[in-house]
Amino acid sequence: MDKIIIEGGVPLHGEVEISGAKNAALPILAAVLLTDEECVIENVPVLRDVLTMLKILRSLGIKSQVNGSRVVLKAGKHRKFTTSYNLVSTMRASICVLGPLLAKVKQAKISMPGGCVIGQRPVDLHLKGLSALGANVKVEHGYIVARAETLHSNNIFLGGAYGPSVLATANVLMAAVLAKGKTVIENAACEPEVVDLADFLLKMGAKIKGYGTHRIEIIGVKRLSGARHSIIADRIETGTYILAGAITKGKLIIKNASIEHLAAFIDKLEQIGVSVSSNRNGDIYVKTKKAVLKSVEFTTLPYPGFPTDIQAQMMALLSVVNGISVVTEKIFPDRFMHVSELNRMGADIFLEGASAIVRGVKTLSGASVMASDLRASAALVLAGLVAKGKTEISRIYHLDRGYENLEDKLSKLGAKIYRVKNV
Ligand code: EPZ
Repeated sequence: MDKIIIEGGVPLHGEVEISGAKNAALPILAAVLLTDEECVIENVPVLRDVLTMLKILRSLGIKSQVNGSRVVLKAGKHRKFTTSYNLVSTMRASICVLGPLLAKVKQAKISMPGGCVIGQRPVDLHLKGLSALGANVKVEHGYIVARAETLHSNNIFLGGAYGPSVLATANVLMAAVLAKGKTVIENAACEPEVVDLADFLLKMGAKIKGYGTHRIEIIGVKRLSGARHSIIADRIETGTYILAGAITKGKLIIKNASIEHLAAFIDKLEQIGVSVSSNRNGDIYVKTKKAVLKSVEFTTLPYPGFPTDIQAQMMALLSVVNGISVVTEKIFPDRFMHVSELNRMGADIFLEGASAIVRGVKTLSGASVMASDLRASAALVLAGLVAKGKTEISRIYHLDRGYENLEDKLSKLGAKIYRVKNV
């Protein structure tokens, strides 16, 4: 298995370009199942999760050609409706083929995704929403089996114990665009990735209003056409590079990003003493305003709140910020796998229920650490960038799921980072 080695302590300088958003690309690629015509998707990040989604689509009868960040997809003659455990078990987001399959092929058999290291990941809201549209949905022998000769509209409340669900909203939206009549999703997720999906569906001929708010209205249409779409910038990758600039006290220009998707995060960085601004072209400038950074408290929340997907990386920064910070996780209360590894590097963090209390230390020291999930791995990379000495991160396949060319992009900014293959 590959490892990443980082020699810490180098302030990062220069320009970095952000890739397309993984979490927008995955449901948008799944939405191609809704048409028989050709779709062209641009600014697709070349990542393991995207390649897994293309494999799943291929197994369902969708042919694809990848040319850099441009993917051309078209349904072949033989559509299938079953995805195997082998594919689904490597990526929970494979569940977003459920809604489009049901709408277009009228049935779906998808391996039930298991739990994962960031905590329980139930799928009750997906099943509730699709049942409300008239599908017969059962869980049998580890598979979600759903059938619906016709889907009909309904008013659906999609709230769970932790608020709206991003992919359940995507699934119900993708099913409702071909259902008869007007569907209303109440308590819908309004993340930018849901908006990007709705934009793509509109280009395919869907009728959707209210997306980007908690109430989405959909009028079903008979068929959807092919479309061309460019994926929005990855706000989580953007946040990770902003933090790479901040933690190393460097100076970065971040290109091809959307600062407006990161308001809650940037507000906290300003409180800490990191300056983040943008110009008319949307380039983001990051520099550290003060010699001594200040601790903060924050809670992860659904959009536009502080994203859970940048919680771990922000904690890496707070571990070297003066004072006591409190981080509360309100989306995935167990998403703290990075804490013990950061502590191995000299951080002083303890957990109290769904909160982490971070006592800032002066320096971190390089160590051998293990990546446990995608964002926890990114937090360890950030810690390694500022730590004294050598950090060796193993199990980095998690990083390959969600960060395009991470070592290349960081090396170009001056980081001493390299990958050792098959150790
Ligand atoms: C999406 O996952 C993202 N994944 C996650 O990104 C992200 O952490 C998460 O949204 C929250 O923002 C993709 O877009 C591919 P949810 P999703 O359903 O949609 C509960 C990353 O690092 N819930 O919005 O699966 C759930 O347990 C990742 O890129 C139910 O109760 O997350 C959680 O507490 C990992 N029942 C809350 O809702 C359900 O049926 C929000 O989760 C579904 C979810």
